[in-house]
Amino acid sequence: MRRGNIVLVGFMGAGKSVCGRLLARRLGRCFIETDDLIVSGEGRSIPEIFREAGEARFRELEAETIESLKLKSGEVIATGGGMPCREGRMELLRELGTVVWLDGDVRELHARASRIGNRPMLEGRSMAEVEELYRSRQPYYRRADITVDTTGIGADQVVARILVALRKAHAVRA
Ligand code: S3P
Repeated sequence: MRRGNIVLVGFMGAGKSVCGRLLARRLGRCFIETDDLIVSGEGRSIPEIFREAGEARFRELEAETIESLKLKSGEVIATGGGMPCREGRMELLRELGTVVWLDGDVRELHARASRIGNRPMLEGRSMAEVEELYRSRQPYYRRADITVDTTGIGADQVVARILVALRKAHAVRA
């Protein structure tokens, strides 16, 4: 059964955190980030987890986090960029509620993500490799219920677009 959450997915730099927080405020809902849950559970940062335990361990922690999210309802949940990109993951996320893909131009996403830093998946990758990673993830992101293009617009406008789409899908009250 779907649990009435709104789940934001998308590549690094898509604005899942900023837009998720704004969206939650607009809807009067709680906001959580899967990366924050992992960091507080592990007591170390994401770059530390990657460095000390490796990406595979981080992906296991993501799988455990999805399990723990099954207790949530009516919240806005921002996921890490790689979370839906394993077989079966998007299906699990869709069980939590309406999944919204924040898409955009990959160069713009990369520029945004690089400004903020702290992304082990971007370290040592050329632009061509980042584009390849993005392309390999698209088939997973595409399974979202709703897609919002963030290219060239700010967080307020992105949230306005998300709200329009959610209302159309009857995922929130008009
Ligand atoms: C990752 C994205 C990050 C974080 C981790 C791995 C990825 O989250 O989960 O560094 O594989 O794309 P953001 O999408 O919030 O940057």
